[in-house]
Amino acid sequence: MKHLLSTLDLSYQDAISILDTAEAMSAVGEREVKKLPALRGRTVVNLFFEDSTRTRISFEAAAKRLSADVINFSAKGSSVSKGESLKDTAQTLAAIGADAVVIRHGASGAPARLAGSGWIDAAVLNAGDGTHEHPTQALLDAFTMRRHWARLHGTGSQGTDLSGMHVAIVGDILHSRVARSDLWLLKTLGADVTLVAPPTLLPFGVETWPCTVSYSLDETLETRPDAVMMLRVQAERMHSAFFPTVREYSRRWGFDDVRLDRLDALGLEDTILLHPGPMNRGLEISSRAADSRRSTVLEQVSNGVSVRMAALYLLLSGEGTSQRTPQEASA
Ligand code: CP
Repeated sequence: MKHLLSTLDLSYQDAISILDTAEAMSAVGEREVKKLPALRGRTVVNLFFEDSTRTRISFEAAAKRLSADVINFSAKGSSVSKGESLKDTAQTLAAIGADAVVIRHGASGAPARLAGSGWIDAAVLNAGDGTHEHPTQALLDAFTMRRHWARLHGTGSQGTDLSGMHVAIVGDILHSRVARSDLWLLKTLGADVTLVAPPTLLPFGVETWPCTVSYSLDETLETRPDAVMMLRVQAERMHSAFFPTVREYSRRWGFDDVRLDRLDALGLEDTILLHPGPMNRGLEISSRAADSRRSTVLEQVSNGVSVRMAALYLLLSGEGTSQRTPQEASA
């Protein structure tokens, strides 16, 4: 594996290897193990053409915990705003000696273009491209679900997958790179997935995707999902009037207080609520639901650092999909 561009082309073995390595990484950053020397002398560039809080600081924390040097590059305030091309930006990064480029871009396919261009000989990690994919978000979501699934079954997570788990992904599927990356990865890991959305927020051709499609969140809750992933309504990608109305969306597709109580009434004690963030509280999720015991929102953020450490480590250390732990490799 030279790059991490999508979960659609991520094999089962590579997915398990990243999740298992992330388990090993999860102790790093705590009191006893502050840092690993694994990527000392390597340079990771965060190249962000779109806004980000979680993904950017998470990749930065991950690279630093592996002792890499980190350069943060935001298109705002750079020569990109003077019209500099992706090619010239990439060649500038190559001249600086970047070993890995973490790229977020508004254009679907920009990371693949960079990886296949020959402009730069660095590992490319997709941090979200247009409406296409967000593979490290999917990996951290799967990591969070796998831990939950293992706890429920009284087993360890290492080496396990999500066989038998039922996951509902709810909301603005049309514009969501998270929904796409999650779906491909969850299917690879053996989960059953239901996509829930208003008909106007589903993409063309969704009926050919490997999942069930529903227009009703209430009916989907009756099917007893083990995990419900609420998506952000991406108003910035909607170029025409938002339909349904905000009020109708919130009433029919929002995870509100009534639906939170409904999980208890249905006896769904162990169903968890995920959200990739940032959240529109009061639109796709109520504050009570977001802050409830079922919510894994902050756990997802913490897990994201471990997953991104694993991805950087496997791509840059030359360990490939080795099952050796990073601590063993650094020893
Ligand atoms: N989940 C996610 O990608 O969040 P950011 O936009 O804050 O990075």
